[in-house]
Amino acid sequence: MSISRAHRERLNGHKGRVIWFTGLSGSGKSTLANALEVELHSRCMRTYLLDGDNVRLGLNRDLGFSTADRIENIRRIAEAARLMMDAGLVVITALISPFKRERAMARELIGADRFFEVHVCTPLEICEQRDVKGLYKKARAGEISNMTGIDSRYEPPDTPACRADTTATSVEDIVTHLATLVCES
Ligand code: ADX
Repeated sequence: MSISRAHRERLNGHKGRVIWFTGLSGSGKSTLANALEVELHSRCMRTYLLDGDNVRLGLNRDLGFSTADRIENIRRIAEAARLMMDAGLVVITALISPFKRERAMARELIGADRFFEVHVCTPLEICEQRDVKGLYKKARAGEISNMTGIDSRYEPPDTPACRADTTATSVEDIVTHLATLVCES
């Protein structure tokens, strides 16, 4: 192919990147990812947001929440993110991505220097109090199974590029910090 990522990046005026949000359901990943995209867009960066909830309506609509299906969900999103990054975009992903091994796979696929892992570390108790979608209540009542944090495990990252604590820091401050991280890398 005659046109490489470097050509596309030159045209865009910035490098391709993947900002990978991980955290429990209700932790604030989508809110932060959306606010970060708004900020980067306002800085004239070409962006795209891959949100677990949305991707599960299309590309991944055949997948549920068993361990095997989550692994496949993460694999497909990592591959899609890599293609988009190769197109020169700053890709933001927001999915629980509960397992260390699959996040490591995504990092390897994308390249450690272009992959920013952001742990949205809102504690389970707070996510459960928020329970925006009523899923925790259903999981506690035994109406749904494989709920992350209840009967399916979440493995927090040991060394994320950033830990975002939505209980202590405003969305605005977290986004400013992340935008600086992305722009200065
Ligand atoms: S992941 O584990 O495979 O990365 P993903 O982020 O795509 O998950 O989807 C999580 C979203 O699906 C949650 O925000 C929630 O709205 C919904 N959901 C439905 N059932 C479950 C469940 N059993 N566990 C977690 N999330 C669920």
